[in-house]
Amino acid sequence: MEVILAEHAGFCFGVQRAVDTVYEQIARRGKDEPPIYTFGSIIHNEEVVNDLQRRGVRILSSLAEAEQIPEEERGTVIIRSHGVERNVSEKLKALGYQVMDATCPFVKRIHDIVEKESAAGKSIVIVGDEGHPEVEATRGWSCTKTYLIGSLEEAEKFVPQAGEELYVVSQTTFNYKKFQDVVEIIEKKGYNVSVVNTVCNATEVRQTEARELASKADVMIVIGGNHSSNTRKLYEICRQECEETYHIRTLDDLHLQLPETVRLVGITAGASTPNNIIEEVRNYVRTNF
Ligand code: F3S
Repeated sequence: MEVILAEHAGFCFGVQRAVDTVYEQIARRGKDEPPIYTFGSIIHNEEVVNDLQRRGVRILSSLAEAEQIPEEERGTVIIRSHGVERNVSEKLKALGYQVMDATCPFVKRIHDIVEKESAAGKSIVIVGDEGHPEVEATRGWSCTKTYLIGSLEEAEKFVPQAGEELYVVSQTTFNYKKFQDVVEIIEKKGYNVSVVNTVCNATEVRQTEARELASKADVMIVIGGNHSSNTRKLYEICRQECEETYHIRTLDDLHLQLPETVRLVGITAGASTPNNIIEEVRNYVRTNF
């Protein structure tokens, strides 16, 4: 029996990089040095967050909280892959923290574009979801007005001020097709508009790979949190191709009885599933069946 793990299962490049940064900082920290902080949870995965807390990492959820920390305890703050508003980094530094920026380079690119184009006088249109931390951070890099558009209806209703020059970017995890449709609506209105596609294809690559693997597999295992919407999506995609698809959170949930006819077991995982959980499942399936 063969076990194939999808190449892009689990963390995307940006999240992996941010999580690695935290573990590197833990390893480097001297015994008497002030604590390490992350600005917000580094990732939406309880196992990882709990493990970091056990190793002494604290979470700062706001600048107000950062101000409350006694000066002698102000250590290194790691910025997660979503990034933060420009003033957050500046303020943290002014408070005496050392800032380690683990913003995903693809998100950083958007910040740079927004900073440059807004400095040139253009208003920024972000195609993304209201309240998403990445979108909030991106807004904070503009020195002009920003607009947020999250749906085709909002694009239809959108009316900028007369003569306003617009520059359109997207949230990295926004659906590419929807982004194109929104842009088409805005462009049709005849405004003075420039567009850059900043959708990251990590999610799409993960889903396409899962579909291909599931179409060949006799049994498919999808690993990820119960509340992870991208894991659920992966499960649905795999289930369409392979009837024997199982969603598990960790190895503890796996109660498989594989008939002898099974030739190929495929494994994939959602964006917030850490490698060690994936490896544990892979090794278990390899050695026990
Ligand atoms: Fe991940 Fe960075 Fe793309 S955080 S989803 S690789 S923009």
